[in-house]
Amino acid sequence: MAVLTGTPTIYTGVVDCYEEELQMKVLILNGSPRTKGNCALALAEMEKVFAAEGIEVEAVQVGNKAVRGCVACNGCTTKGKCVFDDVVNELAPKFEEADGLVVASPVYFGSANATLVAVLDRLFYSTPFDKTFKVGAAFAVARRGGTTATFDELNKYFTISGMPVASGTYWNNVFGRQPGEAEGDAEGLQNARTVARNMVFLMKAIALAKETYGLPEREERVFTHFIH
Ligand SMILES: Cc1cc2nc3c(=O)[nH]c(=O)nc-3n(C[C@H](O)[C@H](O)[C@H](O)COP(=O)(O)O)c2cc1C
Repeated sequence: MAVLTGTPTIYTGVVDCYEEELQMKVLILNGSPRTKGNCALALAEMEKVFAAEGIEVEAVQVGNKAVRGCVACNGCTTKGKCVFDDVVNELAPKFEEADGLVVASPVYFGSANATLVAVLDRLFYSTPFDKTFKVGAAFAVARRGGTTATFDELNKYFTISGMPVASGTYWNNVFGRQPGEAEGDAEGLQNARTVARNMVFLMKAIALAKETYGLPEREERVFTHFIH
């Protein structure tokens, strides 16, 4: 969670300026089962930028975990966490703490891979904390096809949650089949670095805006099923 560590030094009449660094944190989820696959390459490119910018990073490989899907029991509404006590419940406090979330998925049959979808369905559904203004960034990694559909699929978790999306110079994809092949996708990797820089900028801008203006007014949620 962003903490403004500096003391206000210049009073402009409108905005107090903070001289010191913002302490910010990004949670990275690698949806691939391969620890040294092409998702890992794209994420490593982003991590270089985060390190240079002094952003704290926690990266979790979720694609190699045994994770089941949501069973719609709604137990989370009373427990405040998922009834299946696995990696999802371990991720929940890390996500709550984070100012930004990066999710990378290998494309499997034109979609995000099943393990990652199971994690994200349950993580976003079971966690009661406010996700508004945490910044999201998604990456789809494939041999050849299905990246834009997968990118759209992943962004849906962010955009239903009030999370602004960091974008780059293209729809976030990296190409490669065998582990390491994405090393040759110079444009994809450059885009990964750009997305990371834009994400840092957004996180900092949002933290300062929260201090300065506060969060926007929120109405009580209207939740209809179109029939009643
Ligand atoms: C089950 C399965 C389905 C796949 N489906 C697609 C696909 O629809 N389109 C594609 O371009 N590549 C597909 N691939 C290739 C992977 O997306 C590609 O190898 C990618 O680099 C994997 O990322 P990783 O190395 O991070 O695991 C598939 C691979 C597997 C194992």
